[in-house]
Amino acid sequence: MSKSIAESVLFSPLRVGALSLPNRMVMAPMTRGRNAADGTPSELLIPYYSSRADAGLLITEATAISTTARGWLGAPGIHAPSHVEGWRRVTDSVHRAGGRIFCQLWHMGRVSHPDFLDGALPVAPSAIAAKGSSHTPKGKQDYVIPRALSVAEIGAIVGEYAQATKLAREAGFDGIELHGANGYLIDQFLRDGSNQRSDAYGGTPAKRARFLLEVVDAVSAAWEKERIGVRISPTGNYNDMRDSDPQATFTHVARELAPRGLAYLHVTEALPGSPMHVPLPPVTPAIRSAYPGTLIVNGGYDAKTAAAAIERKQAELVAFGVPFLANPDLVKRFQRGATLNAPDFATLYTPGAKGYTDYPTLG
Ligand SMILES: Cc1cc2nc3c(=O)[nH]c(=O)nc-3n(C[C@H](O)[C@H](O)[C@H](O)COP(=O)(O)O)c2cc1C
Repeated sequence: MSKSIAESVLFSPLRVGALSLPNRMVMAPMTRGRNAADGTPSELLIPYYSSRADAGLLITEATAISTTARGWLGAPGIHAPSHVEGWRRVTDSVHRAGGRIFCQLWHMGRVSHPDFLDGALPVAPSAIAAKGSSHTPKGKQDYVIPRALSVAEIGAIVGEYAQATKLAREAGFDGIELHGANGYLIDQFLRDGSNQRSDAYGGTPAKRARFLLEVVDAVSAAWEKERIGVRISPTGNYNDMRDSDPQATFTHVARELAPRGLAYLHVTEALPGSPMHVPLPPVTPAIRSAYPGTLIVNGGYDAKTAAAAIERKQAELVAFGVPFLANPDLVKRFQRGATLNAPDFATLYTPGAKGYTDYPTLG
């Protein structure tokens, strides 16, 4: 065993909001497409999540807050009794294994498709289509031009986030993470490439952040604020996203979130050299200056770069995606300096146990 790795700051405990985490390693949210068509969590999720329960915190795959929030084959929901029952079995087994788990709340906005929505158009801040295509039940189809939401409809969606939060609590989660990253509805409001509104929800960074902040305030009223996290992706370009000034947009978001006393702010901004890296000036350092609370960073980290980020006080926690997907015992492997399993990219989103619950653990 490498002494220096085993003694890494990665394995030091931390109080985060309402929880005590045994280490600084977070499992990043990852859509895996193993659930029933109606969004009921599959039984396979029980071994998948509970076998990773030694992470400081698990964040679930993105989970739809309502029927109109949906748009991904095999993604789960948290808006029906069967969803609560299915997730309850997952959270119980994670807790029995000694873990903690947050539910990532998701509305896909413009990157859904009418075939997921009983023929209705997806909704968005503005009627601007994303370039790219949706994997629908009938195969790949181009994204459509979404319908711009009215102010009354925006208020109703804020209410759906609060309702989903109450259901997540009922399902035994330890908290929720708002998916404000990667080009889904909240991010579509935040960035001016997808938000061209001229009312109270579009224009300046403050107006574009209004929807996120209304959602944060609504879910903080539905549950303790110490059980609420927010994820953002300031420079990510997934789902055809862009912003004319990511520094201004996202430092505003960080400044507004800071006094709200949430469990954490989670920033995904891939390191140079990692597959999702975008060659733009990183916004994470400015966010760190604006946000004195608990920060999670993510994107291409390994044991060494993660420990360095925590030591430099760039973040308190580091989330790992692909490394956790391929290594249920990632914490132990990092502690021992062991070799990691290689991920099988062919089974990222395919149904069944293959590439999901069959990655080997250390003997
Ligand atoms: C298969 C897969 C599914 C993902 N699904 C989600 C998701 O549901 N929600 C989310 O916020 N990010 C999602 N991501 C992004 C990851 O959370 C993470 O940001 C990304 O993998 C970079 O971290 P890494 O370099 O540690 O893997 C997904 C990534 C992968 C590989």
